[in-house]
Amino acid sequence: MEYKQRIIITGGAGFIGSNLLLYLVPKYSDTLFINIDCLTYAGNLSNLKAIESADNYVFERINICDYTALEDCFNRHQPTGLIHLAAESHVDRSITGPTAFIETNIIGTFNLLELSRRIMEKRRADVPFRFHHVSTDEVFGSLGETGYFTEETPYNPNSPYSASKASSDHLVRSYHKTYGLDVVTTNCSNNYGPYQFPEKLIPLMIRNARNGIALPVYGDGRHVRDWLYVEDHCRAIDLVFHDGRAGETYNIGGHNEVENIELVRLICKSMDELLGEGTRSELITYVNDRPGHDRRYAIDATKIKHELGWTPSVTFEEGILRTIKWYLENEEWLENCISGQYQEYYEEMYDKR
Ligand code: NAD
Ligand code: TYD
Repeated sequence: MEYKQRIIITGGAGFIGSNLLLYLVPKYSDTLFINIDCLTYAGNLSNLKAIESADNYVFERINICDYTALEDCFNRHQPTGLIHLAAESHVDRSITGPTAFIETNIIGTFNLLELSRRIMEKRRADVPFRFHHVSTDEVFGSLGETGYFTEETPYNPNSPYSASKASSDHLVRSYHKTYGLDVVTTNCSNNYGPYQFPEKLIPLMIRNARNGIALPVYGDGRHVRDWLYVEDHCRAIDLVFHDGRAGETYNIGGHNEVENIELVRLICKSMDELLGEGTRSELITYVNDRPGHDRRYAIDATKIKHELGWTPSVTFEEGILRTIKWYLENEEWLENCISGQYQEYYEEMYDKR
């Protein structure tokens, strides 16, 4: 079949990538989606069962640090656009082992930009190639008690993760300014929902609370994150990819600030109600703080609201309940994530804290 568009999604087997593909593949049957993912510990093809045999979906197991393999893939599929999500994404891992973050997040992004530039240069001007870079609000650093991150906030990353994402954002911007590549960048706040690897706060707390294991809260637990349900992020990516202005960045956030300790207590309370037993909040344990721990993130999403009409549609109350139920109903998925490698990581991260 002749497809109208051929779009590469990198990192499509990860948390946000899977949710995005599950949303886009049925929605755009005239578009071929090429999922490039090397399947690190965070990549899980079983997330994509619902679309794996769709005609307009293909999977390519490629490491984005491997330029030659990527070039071959670009030559075979002749993509018309790319949405870049592949990354090392966990702050704690970036503290204990930053190398992979530098390789994937910086060199990997550079490889994709180079190949996109080559495609653009070969094409006629009326067939633009759009590069959508999916980034994070963590590039802006930490807020005090007041204020919001806007698109104008200066970059001030504090962890190897956020510094590597900031580097990639700058590279993307430079390819627009220098070569005229059609790029858009989105900087989103913390996501939650189905298929998130249980090293991240919400699935980790749900799993531990279910299994009666200590709930490790870093520092004083008063750090604030602006939580967004993953489906709302996917809708925003779809809008920006199709209608965002070239060269622009868009902040995406839930306008939903919650302190970590408040969130963990809410998870405990909801699970007590759902499972009808216990007082899970007794499992809360304060542990040593994360080095360089950003105090507060909060997004001003006015630009995407005014330009593209995007607002979050899932309230936090609804989203967190849906999420808890999803993890409880998908116990097998959760336990299958917990590989030997994750067990070792968990022991190293928490036993010595
Ligand atoms: P994730 O860790 O769940 O998934 C990352 C995916 O990338 C995995 O499937 C993994 O196999 C793949 N990958 C990693 N290195 C690769 C490489 N070298 N080559 C090919 N594939 C590779 O991450 P996520 O939470 O889904 O985040 C996706 C993107 O969104 C990231 O760029 C992240 O920085 C950004 N982001 C995440 C959040 C969040 O709250 N999770 C918020 C804002 C932005
Ligand atoms: P995380 O899910 O790692 O996202 P990020 O660091 O990218 O914001 O953590 C969210 C918040 O929860 C952050 O302030 C760190 C805190 N946290 C804990 O208190 N305990 C934990 O076990 C984890 C994983 C995170």
